[in-house]
Amino acid sequence: MIRVVQGDITELHVGAIINAANTTLLGGGGVDGAIHRAAGPDLLMACREIGGCPTGEVRITPGFALPSKWVIHTVGPVWRGGDKGEADLLESCYTQSLETAWAHDIHSIAFPGISTGVYGYPKQAAARIALNVMRHYDDRFDEIIVCCFTSDDKTVYLALYDTE
Ligand code: APR
Repeated sequence: MIRVVQGDITELHVGAIINAANTTLLGGGGVDGAIHRAAGPDLLMACREIGGCPTGEVRITPGFALPSKWVIHTVGPVWRGGDKGEADLLESCYTQSLETAWAHDIHSIAFPGISTGVYGYPKQAAARIALNVMRHYDDRFDEIIVCCFTSDDKTVYLALYDTE
């Protein structure tokens, strides 16, 4: 089942939360910063050992002090106008996150709005890609949660969720 909620992804009790990271995996602001703060320093140690992640790909670590058992780090594309393959890269983040969760026998997963903050991806276009991928995997998970940080973001998703 796909659920759209508003809240702080670091507080969700799910099998895995998705981190909108950067290619260094060494933390940052936004949801990346919030996840590292909530997980504690062990998360940064684990990420250091991984040694980075290309855009569009994912890496998995334990959640450490987070309520979620796992963190699946993915690196979304920086929005550069839409003609640099951004849509395919963003779709890959969602697809690879769900495939990795499936491979780790994870049955509930929560996503932030990958690339829609600092990376500037237009929210509605990103939400359309996210929901299309989630619908494709919906029957393989107990719960796929879209965790919107703001009510505006939630409105964007609900408008698409109810109509497409
Ligand atoms: N819970 C859920 N969503 C959150 C939270 C939170 N605690 N904090 C922020 N968000 C939302 C933002 O409102 C935005 O909609 O996550 C979405 C993604 O925004 P960013 O965190 O800025 O991520 P992104 O746009 O993918 O940029 C990634 O930012 O933090 C750095 O290290 C990160 O360099 C990378 C870049």
